[in-house]
Amino acid sequence: MFLKCVECTECGWSADAKQLRTICESCGANVQARYELRAAREAVSRDQIVGRPFDMWRYREVLPVAADVEPVTLGEGGTPLLPANRLGSELGLTKLYVKDEGQNPTGSFKARGMSAAVSMAKTFGVEALAVPSAGNAASAAAAYGARAGLPVHVAMPRNTPAAIQVECEVLGAHVTLIDGNISACGAWVREHAAPNGWFDLSTLKEPYRVEGKKTMGFEVCEQLGWTLPDVILYPTGGGTGLVGMWKAFHEMRELGWLDPEAPLPRMYAVQADGCAPVVEAFHGGLERITPPANPQTIAAGLRVPAPFADRWILRVLHESNGGAVAISDNALIAGCRQLATADGVFAAPEAGTLVAALAELVDGGSVTRDETVILFNTGSGLKYLECFQ
Ligand SMILES: Cc1ncc(COP(=O)(O)O)c(C=O)c1O
Ligand SMILES: [Zn+2]
Repeated sequence: MFLKCVECTECGWSADAKQLRTICESCGANVQARYELRAAREAVSRDQIVGRPFDMWRYREVLPVAADVEPVTLGEGGTPLLPANRLGSELGLTKLYVKDEGQNPTGSFKARGMSAAVSMAKTFGVEALAVPSAGNAASAAAAYGARAGLPVHVAMPRNTPAAIQVECEVLGAHVTLIDGNISACGAWVREHAAPNGWFDLSTLKEPYRVEGKKTMGFEVCEQLGWTLPDVILYPTGGGTGLVGMWKAFHEMRELGWLDPEAPLPRMYAVQADGCAPVVEAFHGGLERITPPANPQTIAAGLRVPAPFADRWILRVLHESNGGAVAISDNALIAGCRQLATADGVFAAPEAGTLVAALAELVDGGSVTRDETVILFNTGSGLKYLECFQ
């Protein structure tokens, strides 16, 4: 067990990890888990990790759950990194890959975060869980809550894809449909969680979902033979995966799993143009986002007008020399269709944005022919059939 403490990403406040932590008690920003990385480096080598089962728990030494505790798992992680050769040649790239997170339990990368967060909540004796969600986080919470034997309360917009609503109900979650976007769902959870004793799993309002999601960063490097890609494109709503992977790359350097001199990837946040607060703040040179008045997009997971960790997300984009791109709904659906017909991956609309964004970045010269580029297909298109009919 190498988890050392939690630490605020903004003011440096820190506290032990012996109780369940939420946000910074000094400034209210999000906190992140910190590990004894030197000791972890002594305890496990990357060669030992390669010999373990291929799921996210193979990186146990740098995950928060104690060594003697069974994680709440459904086999999350261990997703394929698929060469996308036809799409690559259509876009003029020689080393394009899709990390297919749609192959996770409940069909999205949210499984990783919920496995870690629900495991920790259970360890600390939480008796019920709650989450506001634009979609996939709700069904992941429902599944991992069921697995842990804990009741789950989800609040999601009434226009959440039908498959996700059905999935949550079948998995036994208590579903509340809200006339509004994820911010209104978040307000509902804040109002009901504390009085009812539910633990709030909202994005980045507890430190462990991001720990699960960072394993996408470990896996990608491992799958590239312990090297880093040049460019990562990530569909950004709350930004957990983006900041999580950036954290993972820094941890990997300290663990001796990467060449310490190798440059880190350029991280690109991609959003839908009807709800692009991160793109607007990045291009305006701002440290904080301004929520759009009327957030609209067919990509439910990107309908996040006020990401809580905006400062952290924007720092990652700047530090990595990356950027931010906004894509129209028509172009993101066309992107899904192009990836599907070229290379056989039926991506969620959120990830359809990446195809159109990459075409723009190649056209503008920001991404060049022989660079290694990874598109994160964060979820399966099968949950969004209404977007394609
Ligand atoms: C398929 C899909 N992609 C991307 C996102 C955005 O993820 P993040 O909150 O990590 O930015 C979501 C969030 O709901 C999602 O469901
Ligand atoms: Zn703080």
